[in-house]
Amino acid sequence: MSSLLLVGYPYARARWEPPAIPPPVETVYGMDVDPVAHEKAQAQIKTVLHGDSCSLVSDLKVYTPLKNFRHIQSVVGEIDEKLLGTGVDGILMDLGMSSMQIDNPVRGFSVLGDGPVDMRMDPRASLRAEDILNSWRDAEVGRILLDYGEESNWRALQKKIVNARLHVGLHSTSDLVDHIRNATPAVRGGRQGWIKTATRVFQALEDCC
Ligand SMILES: C[S@@+](CC[C@H](N)C(=O)[O-])C[C@H]1O[C@@H](n2cnc3c(N)ncnc32)[C@H](O)[C@@H]1O
Repeated sequence: MSSLLLVGYPYARARWEPPAIPPPVETVYGMDVDPVAHEKAQAQIKTVLHGDSCSLVSDLKVYTPLKNFRHIQSVVGEIDEKLLGTGVDGILMDLGMSSMQIDNPVRGFSVLGDGPVDMRMDPRASLRAEDILNSWRDAEVGRILLDYGEESNWRALQKKIVNARLHVGLHSTSDLVDHIRNATPAVRGGRQGWIKTATRVFQALEDCC
């Protein structure tokens, strides 16, 4: 294997040290869409590549585009056009969210913390979850909850959201969670059933941003 593509930054140092990236690997492409994750990754990669303990990886060529995985083809092509024909030898993906993203309420991913209804994995993107909740058509909001969140109670939730935006709108994650709690019958999933519903609703919105 001579080229490896990593998606969802493995900024844990252990992932970069042999045997995780054994000597036949000559080139590594690492992508992440989140600038904070990207910056952390850069620091970790630098430490491993320039640290004394890792002579085995010192010849590695490393490219680290700050890009969404959906642009994988153009990103790889820009770095080395030949790869568009041959492909890379291996791809390792660890997508989803990191605790660093969930634990920062300002990012809007946390069901339990209060923050803006942002939920953008890439802060350069223009669409926030708040825009979906407050300005997308009623039916679209319901469709997202059903298709992306697989939420069976989507009709009641859609109604709550539409009703809320007719008044002051939905601007914080705690507003959103309050509406979810009110729309979730106590019998659904036990006393904490609303947390499962809220997790599905957040997941649905995150997938759209
Ligand atoms: C679970 S974390 C990866 C943790 C990492 N493997 C480690 O060991 O520390 C998932 C990462 O995937 C990134 N990610 C999620 N969706 C992405 C996408 N569509 N394109 C690129 N990166 C994405 C997130 O920004 C996040 O940093």
